[in-house]
Amino acid sequence: MAEKPWDGRFSEKTDKSVEAFTASIAYDRRLYPYDIAGSIAHCRMLAKVGVITDEEASQLVEGLGTIKRELDHGKFVFDDSLEDIHMHIEARLLQVAGKVAQKLHTARSRNDQVALDVRMYLREETRQTIDLLKGLRTVLVDLAEAHADVVMPGYTHTQRAQPVLFAHHMLAYYEMFFRDQQRFNECLTRINVMPLGAAALAGTTYPIDRTYTAELLDFPAVSANSMDAVSDRDFVLEFLSAASICMVHLSRLSEELVLWSTSEFGFITLSDAFATGSSIMPQKKNPDIPEIVRGKTGRVVGALMALITLMKSLPMAYNRDMQEDKEPLFDAVDTLKACLSINAQMLPRITVNRDTMRRAASMGFLNATDMADYLVGQGMPFRKAHDCVGKAVAFALEKGKELDQLTLDELKPFSQLIKPDLFDHLTLEHMIDRRQSLGGTATDNVRQALAEARKVLAAG
Ligand code: ARG
Repeated sequence: MAEKPWDGRFSEKTDKSVEAFTASIAYDRRLYPYDIAGSIAHCRMLAKVGVITDEEASQLVEGLGTIKRELDHGKFVFDDSLEDIHMHIEARLLQVAGKVAQKLHTARSRNDQVALDVRMYLREETRQTIDLLKGLRTVLVDLAEAHADVVMPGYTHTQRAQPVLFAHHMLAYYEMFFRDQQRFNECLTRINVMPLGAAALAGTTYPIDRTYTAELLDFPAVSANSMDAVSDRDFVLEFLSAASICMVHLSRLSEELVLWSTSEFGFITLSDAFATGSSIMPQKKNPDIPEIVRGKTGRVVGALMALITLMKSLPMAYNRDMQEDKEPLFDAVDTLKACLSINAQMLPRITVNRDTMRRAASMGFLNATDMADYLVGQGMPFRKAHDCVGKAVAFALEKGKELDQLTLDELKPFSQLIKPDLFDHLTLEHMIDRRQSLGGTATDNVRQALAEARKVLAAG
């Protein structure tokens, strides 16, 4: 069992069960690159302000470099009795660099160290998430562009409502993921704040230069209050909120992919490479990827719930409860990235069954609103037109026909305003292209939206 750096006031050895219960090394080991980078910056800063000599700093930095290589190559030995990654690295530094290692922890606490590590980790992961979102947005624009003329039913209440362009539908997801990306960008400003130098909670008596440490670690800001610096996990909650919203968007998309790939809908066919089969039913091709993405949404939302509950009522400043932030955060980060990435790979390989979509858009009275709009154009107030078309729909249902399959003679009794040109208003192309209101599904609007999306993507 390794000696504890804090056991000076203890007369009994820590019980093995306590070591096992309190250790976080099994999961916080992934913070090691940040922990080492933070320690190197801390050493340099201590040398700059004269708390340690340049010579000591060089020895420490060299030792930390050696440890980094050991960790990179899986040569580092872990030991539960050393609790966490911070103590592991410090203990190893003593072996590698000798007793100069005992100076590393001057003007520092594990409380500000762990806050730094998590911030550095999360800023890197947030940047990767932003890149993945950008990739997914590109895929959606590609998919929309490749099927620019495909018409499908738009739904409300999962009931056919009005025709829309498939591209318009895809661009709706583009908008969601764009907002997600913006949210992660905004998170980044609050993640990117340097806490080191808060020490345990109250600041330190050494003449440290926190701005210099921040510069070395590429942080644009330094936390203003030492107590807040060690006890703030808002940035984790914020990331998890953004992640949960993003997973909800992925889950909505997944739900549609699952529905669309059923034989009932038949709107899309998933590529064989991105579907799975059944061990008993030879005919099955299952949409497991969207299903699993839909399922994983619960994990990420669960992580947000776990951590928001963890933080609730914690008195200031650091509390060991906060060690519990890591597993849900790491899991949520990994899950979100995996879901974004698999979608970006799967979506370009779907087959859009344009004829099935078009057929579905032609059946189920999706032109009823347009017939009402036609009557309004002939001078009828909208409410009256709505009622008139409603009656025509009831009549058509009885006849087993669509509105546009009724003859002029059959339609005339509903309103004398109905002329033969009504039928032009009821075609899919006409319905789509008349929806030119800002943000509507008209072909020109969608073409413009696509061009705008391309421009935004190219701008970064
Ligand atoms: N493993 C701890 C955590 O994750 C590091 C900080 C420990 N600080 C302490 N005073 N025990 O929060």
